[in-house]
Amino acid sequence: MARIGIIIGSTRPGRNGEAVAQWVFERAQQRTSAEYELIDLADFALPHLDEALPAAMGQYAHDHTKNWAQTIARFDGYILVTPEYNHSTSGALKNAIDFLGNEWHNKVAGFVGYGVYGGVRAIEHLRLVFSQLQVATVSAAATFNLMTDFENMSTFRPAAYHEASVAALFDQVESWSEALSDVRDSGEEQAAA
Ligand SMILES: Cc1cc2nc3c(=O)[nH]c(=O)nc-3n(C[C@H](O)[C@H](O)[C@H](O)COP(=O)(O)O)c2cc1C
Repeated sequence: MARIGIIIGSTRPGRNGEAVAQWVFERAQQRTSAEYELIDLADFALPHLDEALPAAMGQYAHDHTKNWAQTIARFDGYILVTPEYNHSTSGALKNAIDFLGNEWHNKVAGFVGYGVYGGVRAIEHLRLVFSQLQVATVSAAATFNLMTDFENMSTFRPAAYHEASVAALFDQVESWSEALSDVRDSGEEQAAA
């Protein structure tokens, strides 16, 4: 069964991202077709990238990197819950992605965005970033509008139609995570040879 990590992409005090991710996680937990876990970026307290060697070498010097790497390595796919900051994702999430290499490879990502236009520009930027990391990104996404899915832009009250969007997102991330398991397995065999 695929293991999917739902990553809270904002570390900002008072962030909206936590409520959005919690709502997604509650729905994910109702599924029996995959295992879901919530990953809060704030728990990892990552500094600005401070590893001397390129992430592709996988030789991490710092405990915070090893901890983050071990967490990301455990999953087959991810759902990134991203805010939109200046038409992109958060610096914290981009920094966390940059810390690692092999842990992302041949995995799958889907996106949940939120912002004035549903965070769609942040999502599209993340697709480009993940293309370099050999992560396949699914097209289904849930995009929450700050004006209509939140009260006073701060209390999360999603419209009913998002239930279907997030179900489609789960379906796609699960099926692609399973489909890519052969690629991940053959990579491990080659590394061991
Ligand atoms: C630095 C910064 C830049 C922002 N830029 C945008 C933007 O370009 N587009 C947008 O839709 N919302 C933008 N916003 C509003 C965020 O979508 C909104 O504050 C959201 O709640 C941020 O996520 P968070 O509360 O989980 O940190 C910006 C917010 C911040 C703090």
